[in-house]
Order: sequence, then structure tokens, then C-alpha cells
Amino acid sequence: MDLATYIRALPKAELHLHIEGTLEPEMMFELGRRNGVALPFASVEATRAAYAFQDLQSFLDIYYAGAAVLVREEDFFDLAWAYFRRAAEDGVVHAELFFDPQTHTARGVPFATVLDGLERAAARAREELGISSRLILCFLRHLPEAGAFATLEEARPHLARIHGVGLDSSEAGHPPSEFARVFARCRELGLHAVAHAGEEGPAAYITEALDLLGAERVDHGVRCLEDPALVARLARDQTPLTVCPLSNLKLRVFPTMADHTFKRMLDAGLRVTINSDDPAYFGGYVARNYLETAEGLGLTRKDLATVARNSLLASFVTDEERAPWL
Ligand code: ADE
Ligand code: ZN
Repeated sequence: MDLATYIRALPKAELHLHIEGTLEPEMMFELGRRNGVALPFASVEATRAAYAFQDLQSFLDIYYAGAAVLVREEDFFDLAWAYFRRAAEDGVVHAELFFDPQTHTARGVPFATVLDGLERAAARAREELGISSRLILCFLRHLPEAGAFATLEEARPHLARIHGVGLDSSEAGHPPSEFARVFARCRELGLHAVAHAGEEGPAAYITEALDLLGAERVDHGVRCLEDPALVARLARDQTPLTVCPLSNLKLRVFPTMADHTFKRMLDAGLRVTINSDDPAYFGGYVARNYLETAEGLGLTRKDLATVARNSLLASFVTDEERAPWL
């Protein structure tokens, strides 16, 4: 069996996936036409050609511009259904999807429209593809705390449909501490907590995410190696890290795959997982992330099986739901 086939056959969970980041240029143009939303690019090809990012911010500018074509419930359905079909081909049995409500509500799209479309796709994925899923609402950290609290208020009538909260967008200069109060409220409401930390920001942001936000998983977390005491803590607690290797290359966190710290993190006993982040922008869905990481860093099949198992252990499903996959 070749390596790509082996990887696809591993049952895996995808735990770091922004649904807005699965918007392929073809669908971006189709939805733009459907909704009368003009795009800053002349064609699908010109759009792909613009995906040469310098850093996280240069990506986010394009990512938020693209998301403007998502307007109606069926747009969110089409987006998520396309993702689930793609994920099924990669052996994903469970997905925990991030969504960024502020990106949509700021344009006048009702919160419920976003949720209804995503949920309808999730129900179909469960039924037709056998993929289970959860929705994780992300607060945009470049916006003030008040915006996060307002978003939580909008989410309140729908909390039975939302499993957790996360923190994303521009990391540098926006430490987790700014969102400690809103995360405390979310935890009181029974929501799981995760946060992007240590992608471009320092290891200290990872410590803040754990101590001040109560993050149960760290999204990215690749800069943890800069703090040996933090690595020891993450290893001791088996805190899951949702690493996104192709994202890290596209956003120039590491110059090449050979420079990526994933193998060192795995060898340090950390509960690392591999995920695709924003696959439409970064050149690969989850199986390609596994494959390129394995090829670039010399991961063995046993390593890859450990990583896939880590993803199942790190998911927010119940032990009963998890049992058949392990
Ligand atoms: N939003 C979408 N992708 C992101 C990433 N990799 N980091 C921070 N915010 C994001
Ligand atoms: Zn992310």
C-alpha cells in the first residue's frame, strides 16, 4: 500500500478547520455571481495566483474579502457540504469546525443563517457520509472584547447547537488575556474552550491561553518549543496541539517542511495532531498535510497512526462515540 493510501485509510478527526477557509476559488466565483457580490479578483486563476502570503495578516486580508460571498443559508450549506465530501475522501470520521460569526454578522448576515446552513450540512454528512461533527464558534481577536461579548449574546439562543468557543485572527499584539472574561463566561455556560496560540505569537501566549482562557486544546502551538517548562507541562497534561503544517509553510512560520518542528514536538511526547486550517488557501486538505509532513520530516507509518489516534483522543466526542474508532 502506498503512503497516501495508508494515510487515507487511517480513521482521523480534523480539529483545526475554519469552514470559511474551505472556500475554493471556483465556489467563491459561483457564490459571488449568485449573490451579486463583486470580488477583488478577475478570475479563478487570478485568485489562486494571489495566494502568495507573506504572513498571517496578508492571508487574513484575502480570507475575509473572500468570505463576503457567503450570504444565504444555502451558501453556508454548500460550503460545508463540499468540505464534508472532501473530508470523507481523506478518511475523516469526525470534524470539529471553526466558524467566525463576526465575519458574517458585521455584513448583516444573521447569526442563525450561518448556523442553519452549517448544521444542515453537518446533518447530511452524518447521514450520508458517516462523519460526525461539532461546531466551535471563534471570536476574532483583532476586534475588541465587547464584540466577543456581543457575539456570545447572539449565540445564546443557539448554544445547544454550539459545542465550544475558540479564538482566531491576527495573533501578534492580541494576547489571550484580552479575552479572559468572555472565555470565563463561556466556560460557565458549559462550552468547551480552545484558542489559537503560538502560531506567530510567543510561547507566553500559549501559557496565557491555558491559564487565562482555560483552553483545553491549543491551536497551532508550534512556538511552545521556545519554553522548555511549557513543553514539560503540555506533555504532562497531554494537552492536544492542533498543528497545521501546510498553513505554517504558506504563512512563512517555517521556511520549509524540513524546518518544521512537528517531529520534535511528537518526539517530546506532546499530543500533536495534523490538520488543514484553511485548505482552500494553503494547498491541501488533511491527508495532504499528513503526507507532506511525513515526507518532509521522515515520519514513519507508526508515527502517522499515533497522530491520527491523537486526533481521535483529542476530539470533544464522548468515550462512547470514540470507542469504535480506536
Ligand atoms: N483564521 C483562519 N485561519 C487562521 C489562522 N491560521 N490563524 C489565525 N486565524 C485564522
Ligand atoms: Zn486556524
